[in-house]
Amino acid sequence: MHVIAMATQKGGSGKSTLSIGLAVAAMEDGRRVAVIEADAQGTVSKWKERRADPYPRVYRAAGPAEIEQTIHRIEADGLWLVIIDTAAATNSLATSAIANADLCLIPARPSPADIEAAIPTLMAIRRLNRRFAFVLNQTPPRGCRLSEAAASLSSLGVLALPYIVQRNDHQDALGLGLAATEFEPDGKASEEMRALWRWVSKQLIGGSIDHEQTAIKANFQRRAACAPLARGTHGSGGE
Ligand SMILES: Nc1ncnc2c1ncn2[C@@H]1O[C@H](COP(=O)(O)OP(=O)(O)O)[C@@H](O)[C@H]1O
Ligand SMILES: [Mg+2]
Repeated sequence: MHVIAMATQKGGSGKSTLSIGLAVAAMEDGRRVAVIEADAQGTVSKWKERRADPYPRVYRAAGPAEIEQTIHRIEADGLWLVIIDTAAATNSLATSAIANADLCLIPARPSPADIEAAIPTLMAIRRLNRRFAFVLNQTPPRGCRLSEAAASLSSLGVLALPYIVQRNDHQDALGLGLAATEFEPDGKASEEMRALWRWVSKQLIGGSIDHEQTAIKANFQRRAACAPLARGTHGSGGE
């Protein structure tokens, strides 16, 4: 069984939305999936209450020992994947989630505040010697802000692809107990979430995280997107 921890101490960066989006995308890919909610805020549990489909199973964990016990229980049930959604804090639950994860995903919005706020989580992940990747979430479709954020994150570590654009489908879907891929299967939000799942799945199955390629690509995109600014044509970038 594979374990993903969704962690960053910054609230509102998309941990719960991406936990749900990836869990459902993995299910649609034929995987048996559960979500452990290690956040008293209860975003995933409340989503589950609105949901008609009994899957994915959602378990709540209130302490580090409970996280481990729940992982063992889910593994004994023969599931393929568990995603742990953590709170906006580097607390004992988040640390336990990270310690038990094969892959930690750190969602960040493309803002300096979000990227700075990810650093303590990144340090905890490095201390525990876990594999990790950043996920840029709630992005504009393109532009310098996005390219700069991508370059900053890829200088700190691996950046997952694609970036997840800010789209109403994510919010509307969660309100109905759905994921974006169920709400509007042919929409762009669905396309991006499925592609992110493919990227994550590849890392879990054994593909090596190609940090250098991601960094080179992000730097290239930054230069391409920001070149007009340097020539004084600010405002034509479409951000
Ligand atoms: N890609 C996205 N597009 C639009 N809204 C998003 C996206 N990701 C998250 N949101 C919204 O942002 C808010 C915070 O997301 P959430 O997943 O609850 O963050 P966290 O769990 O990190 O606190 C929610 O209202 C959620 O619906
Ligand atoms: Mg949350």
